[in-house]
Amino acid sequence: MAVEQTLSIIKPDATRRNLTGKINARLEDAGLRIVAQKRLHLTRGQAEQFYEVHKERPFYNDLVEFMMSGPVVVQVLEGEDAVALNRKVMGETNPANAAEGTIRKDFAESIEANSVHGSDSAENAAKEIQFFFSRTEIVG
Ligand code: CMP
Repeated sequence: MAVEQTLSIIKPDATRRNLTGKINARLEDAGLRIVAQKRLHLTRGQAEQFYEVHKERPFYNDLVEFMMSGPVVVQVLEGEDAVALNRKVMGETNPANAAEGTIRKDFAESIEANSVHGSDSAENAAKEIQFFFSRTEIVG
């Protein structure tokens, strides 16, 4: 296992319910370090571009609207095997299938309003981190 970085987003359903601190505690308790973090209101262009891989999926338009519906917190997480570890802490995309004790099991409202995003591979993590952060904003 190597030290990796991954991109995390705390989504509008979670910022609306003031859950940023609780979610950050879950990440830190799991051994992930928040090495960059900022709160943003995504523009339509940013939301569309970030989720471009899902463009042909039936949920794409609703997902873009949802991601613009309130502030998000984008963050870079660092740790051993951070991509997989973060996905384990988040739980399955659909909270109905998420394991006990995961962020999505405990906080997500629905498959769309599922509280957090996490990169699904080291390759995508690098792209997603670059999408939101410059190198000087990441402080390990
Ligand atoms: P995320 O991990 O951010 O990646 C794509 C997002 O699309 C996903 O989390 C959900 O918020 C959203 N989504 C909405 N409907 C679906 C669906 N049917 N399958 C997968 N993702 C969905």
